[in-house]
Amino acid sequence: MLDLCAVNLHPVRALGPEAWNELNDWLLREGDRFTSVHILVDSTTHELVLPRFMAEIEGLADAHILEIEPGEASKELALVEQLALGLRDEGADRGALLIALGGGVVCDLAGLLATLYMRGIELVLVPTSLLAMVDAAWGGKNGVDSEGTKNLLGTWRPEAPVFADVRALETLPEREWLQGWAELVKQAWIAGGGLWTEVSGGPWTHAPFWVRDAAEVKLQVVVADPFERGTRRALLNMGHTVGHAVESMVVALGLDYGHGDCVALGLSIESRILDALGQPGSAERSALRGRIAADFQLDALRNMDSAAVWAAMQHDKKKRAGELRIVWSPEPGASEIVLGIDEATFTTAWIADAAH
Ligand SMILES: NC(=O)c1ccc[n+]([C@@H]2O[C@H](COP(=O)([O-])OP(=O)(O)OC[C@H]3O[C@@H](n4cnc5c(N)ncnc54)[C@H](O)[C@@H]3O)[C@@H](O)[C@H]2O)c1
Ligand SMILES: [Zn+2]
Repeated sequence: MLDLCAVNLHPVRALGPEAWNELNDWLLREGDRFTSVHILVDSTTHELVLPRFMAEIEGLADAHILEIEPGEASKELALVEQLALGLRDEGADRGALLIALGGGVVCDLAGLLATLYMRGIELVLVPTSLLAMVDAAWGGKNGVDSEGTKNLLGTWRPEAPVFADVRALETLPEREWLQGWAELVKQAWIAGGGLWTEVSGGPWTHAPFWVRDAAEVKLQVVVADPFERGTRRALLNMGHTVGHAVESMVVALGLDYGHGDCVALGLSIESRILDALGQPGSAERSALRGRIAADFQLDALRNMDSAAVWAAMQHDKKKRAGELRIVWSPEPGASEIVLGIDEATFTTAWIADAAH
């Protein structure tokens, strides 16, 4: 077991059906030092999750509620300022505690708000979506988008306690389960071994069994490369070079697909790039594509123009000296490799994927 405390990464954390009990205990121990408590929700988690949360966690009767609209459009700096003014109007001083109760959007906004408000107040993350429980809540990063550039402004809060209670997932709609499932499948691939064997057998409805292990994969990758100095943390971006490009087109075209759908397609296409480059492990990559084909409906995405997707990929952060690169474990659980890709290889992979 890695020593997560060595980088002070979420030294207080709990994941499972007892996680909110642990938050309760933590608040009973630590609560006295907070001058006020503020809970950030979106309108959906306000309605579906907050009542149960308030009923189960003692000492929140006087907590102030800050609400945002659900969705990525809320990740903007102007809203952070508006929320800061809300905190001010509620009387929050430097001793305030901010609790994020929601998916990745709420966690990202709360992280930045808690860093900036009066130069920093304490933050607790309570993720409520599958994606946030296996990915967004862990690792300490937060951010908001600007003019379509994701996470252009953000900070690190690796010390924030995280309490992920899988019971919160009971109200999550199928569409959102699938967004998290794409990241869970990716993280199972990174782990390899028994986790991959189980997850590759699916289906997505069994996701709750693997939330803890998938979150642990993210933590271990982050601990191995906490400040993204090497290539290890880039492994978490498997599927995202193609996926982000597809997602930018989805947003521009107003299509009803989420980040996880785009990452699922990205994993499928990028895996074929590894095939085209003759990497070992093609049978396992075929199993990965089989899992994705069984769980996701991606036909409208596959109809996109590959040249336009390639053009959108040129904004990828991993581009070096004009060359586009992807970082992958060629086989489940294998060490990462960095591969340069050109348009011809990408186009071959895109066409091969669309034909299946
Ligand atoms: N900081 C990081 O390291 C990191 C990593 C990965 C993703 N992210 C960010 O996370 C965001 C995506 O996260 P997300 O998919 O959770 O998005 P989200 O927060 O928009 O949640 C998705 C939808 O699910 C709803 N929801 C959440 N919990 C629910 C529940 N228990 N019951 C019913 N509905 C519920 C939300 O209201 C929302 O409509 C993106 O902005 C992405 O950039 C951040
Ligand atoms: Zn992602």
